[in-house]
Amino acid sequence: MPHYFSLGKIPRKRHIVFRKPDGGLYAEQLVSTEGFSDNYSLAYHCNPPTMVNSIDPSYSVAPVIAENDNMQHRLFTGMDIPSADDYLESRIPVLVNNDVHISLAAPRISMDSWFFKNSGADEMIFVHHGDGMLKTMYGNIPFGYGDHLVIPRGITYQLEFKTTDNRLFIVESFTPLRFPKRYMNKSGQLLEHAPFCERDIRAPQAVETHEEKGNFLVKVKRGDRIWPYHYATHPFDLIGWDGYHYPFALSVFDFEPITGRIHQPPPVHQTFETPTFVICAFVPRLYDYHPESIPAPYHHSNVDSDEVLYYVDGDFMSRNNVQKGQITLHPIGIPHGPHPGAVERSIGKKDTQELAVMVDTFKPLKLTKAALEIEDKEYFKSWLEK
Ligand SMILES: [Fe+2]
Repeated sequence: MPHYFSLGKIPRKRHIVFRKPDGGLYAEQLVSTEGFSDNYSLAYHCNPPTMVNSIDPSYSVAPVIAENDNMQHRLFTGMDIPSADDYLESRIPVLVNNDVHISLAAPRISMDSWFFKNSGADEMIFVHHGDGMLKTMYGNIPFGYGDHLVIPRGITYQLEFKTTDNRLFIVESFTPLRFPKRYMNKSGQLLEHAPFCERDIRAPQAVETHEEKGNFLVKVKRGDRIWPYHYATHPFDLIGWDGYHYPFALSVFDFEPITGRIHQPPPVHQTFETPTFVICAFVPRLYDYHPESIPAPYHHSNVDSDEVLYYVDGDFMSRNNVQKGQITLHPIGIPHGPHPGAVERSIGKKDTQELAVMVDTFKPLKLTKAALEIEDKEYFKSWLEK
C-alpha cells in the first residue's frame, strides 16, 4: 500500500552488510511487485528464504462453475455455507470471474501447523464474526468484527482465531488492490475528503523472529492450484523490514461516512479500487437532511457492472427481510432498487444502522455450484407489489 512503514532492525542503507550478533549475515529479500516497478519491501531474514526441503504434488482448488452466464437478480444465504476446521477447506468461492474470486469461509480452528501464501492474488478478508491474530512474516495484526484484512500477494500468513464461530467474506483480486486514486495526493497521502486516513490503517505490530529450522509447510496458491512447499526455515524469521508492500487492517467502523442533503451516490462509500472492480462499505450514518429528501436509493442500473452486496448487520433501508450474511447479485444492465414500500418508509428517517460490503465488478460474474446450493430462487420476483 502507498505508505512507507518500517519495523524491527534494518541496516542504515539498503544492500549493504548487515550482520547478526554472532557475526553471520542476515539474508536480504526484495519483495517487489509489477516487475520491480511498483510497491516493494526489503525484508531481512535470519536464514535465506530459499531453503526448500520438498514440494508435495499440487492440487486443484478451482471453483466449480455452475452458471457461466447470469442475467438475473440472485440472493444467496451466506450463513448456510458449511463451516470447516481447516481454513483453506473452509474457503468456498461463490461468485467468480477472471479478475476476482468472492468466497465465503467459516473456519473453526487456527492455522497453527502450516502457513498460507497467495502468490497470484491480493486478498481482502472482511471479518464478519471472529476475533484473533493475523500472523505474517512482517509481524502480527490483531483483528475482530468489522475489519478488512488486506494481504498483498506473496505474503505468507496464518490466521489464529480466539473463536470457533468465524465468518469471513473473502475477495481475491488478480490485479493490485489499492485505495481509490481520488482519495490520494500526488505523494500518496490520503486527502482530507477521504473517508479514512493513515491513522486508521493498522500495520503489523512488532516483528516476531523465529530462527528455528526444521520442516515448515507453506501452502502456496497460484491460479486455481495449491503447491504444498516444505521449507527448512520458519517463514517468520525476519529481524526487520521496510517498504510499502505489507499487510494491514482497516476497520469498517473507522470509515467516516460521507453524507449530504440529498442521496449520495455509491462512490462515496468506496474503500478500495482495482482496474477490474471496486469495493465499498455501507456504514451506520445519518440520513440526508434536505426536508424533502428520500433517503432510500433510487432505482438504478449500472450498465457496465455486476453489483454484489454482502449484508453484515443492521436494517437495510431499501430491502425487505434482509438477513445477516446474505449476498445479492444484481447483474449488468438490469434495474434494481428499493423493495415495495421502502421508499415511503424511508422518508423522514434520521439515520440508519446498516452495515454492508459491496463489490462492483466490471466483467460479469459466474455462479458456482456452492452458490446455487444456498440460493433463494424466488428473489428476482421480490419487487412485485402484492
Ligand atoms: Fe445497487
